[in-house]
Amino acid sequence: MRNETAYLRIYNTLMQGQRIIKLSSVPMTVSPAISELSSASNSGVSTPLTSISSVLSLPAQIPSRVFSPLITHALDLPSLRSRPSTQELLAVLVTYARSQGKNFGGDEEYIPAPTGFVDWATRVVGSGLEWIEDEDDRELIWDSASTRIAERCGRTAAPSMEREFEVEGLDASIILYEPSLTADSLGLKTWGSSLLLANRICECHRGLIPPSGRRVLELGSGTGLVGIVLGILGYPVLLTDLSEILPNLKRNMERNKDRLSESLDVNVEELNWMDFESSEAYRRHDKFETIVLSDPIYSSEHPQMLANVIIQFLEYDNPQAQVMLQLPLRAKFADIRADLWHKLRDIGLSPTRQDQERGRDDFGEETYFWSVWRPREYIDIHIDIDSLP
Ligand SMILES: C[S@@+](CC[C@H](N)C(=O)[O-])C[C@H]1O[C@@H](n2cnc3c(N)ncnc32)[C@H](O)[C@@H]1O
Repeated sequence: MRNETAYLRIYNTLMQGQRIIKLSSVPMTVSPAISELSSASNSGVSTPLTSISSVLSLPAQIPSRVFSPLITHALDLPSLRSRPSTQELLAVLVTYARSQGKNFGGDEEYIPAPTGFVDWATRVVGSGLEWIEDEDDRELIWDSASTRIAERCGRTAAPSMEREFEVEGLDASIILYEPSLTADSLGLKTWGSSLLLANRICECHRGLIPPSGRRVLELGSGTGLVGIVLGILGYPVLLTDLSEILPNLKRNMERNKDRLSESLDVNVEELNWMDFESSEAYRRHDKFETIVLSDPIYSSEHPQMLANVIIQFLEYDNPQAQVMLQLPLRAKFADIRADLWHKLRDIGLSPTRQDQERGRDDFGEETYFWSVWRPREYIDIHIDIDSLP
């Protein structure tokens, strides 16, 4: 048994009724024996400690110190000088695993690690673990220790992960893969705006996007939450982003493919706002009734780029034409936002609907702004752009 998640599952079984660790976002590959145990635990049947121990080859008398969530100080963690066994080390390491939880983890429960845990885990990573004979066991321990450290370094340093997003109104969660982030690839992470926009679209989609059968264009799709939700709701949709983001975006489309009707036109293509003339959509002369964007501006060049792309692809002669935009009200981007509002006005659009709501992201709570923009000649209500946040 060389699977960290299996240890985590067993730990969960042991602690059933006392503490909860959410495991739903943790990929599981477990042996049949472990599966039996976990289904017993799911059905509420209590599992004797001795049978768990035998599956895991743990000593029947598991030292209480090892499985206790009450370790409060690094001095209570197994000292490497005492040459702790593989099981002892992994039991501690999986105890303090932190999964991301659903929907940015706001409601997640996990066992807080004792003071000094990261120092201890760092010592494990730096130790040769010479007393552990099995090389695979040593690798697993080093991996677990370094993952525990990375989990505590904030989202930008966190390891790659599969995350689960529960969108209001959908019967099952959307699973999205996020590679570990590299400096500029913001599209490899799912942002708070996309969950709020997906929720809103799901709640009242026919009222927001006419069921005309026309393809929706998403600009800067990132990990794909909004586009995938549109597809699940039955809209044909073209998800687009930079070339380096597309492999992960395609992977996520594939991961959720069974939720999309096979006959539906849901595709992923490169569309670089700086060079949209080289996109397939441009070559095909595609025009779109609805364009959606979630969290698209974080550079002073983005407003002009987006205005250029929108003027190219929006179906201006359609009275239903609209651009739907969700973004966080980050104080440091106030000037870029104001510039975007002016650029959208300059290309003949006016805001017709707007709303603000609180949401969360990996980096905490934030206020988010939702707005819908339409060609000016088709609308009666004009919101003053200088009143926008
Ligand atoms: C903050 S992320 C938001 C991603 C996603 N919409 C979400 O809300 O989770 C910004 C997105 O814009 C994309 N982007 C940035 N510059 C771009 C460009 N020049 N052309 C196309 N996409 C771009 C990024 O790759 C990224 O996916």
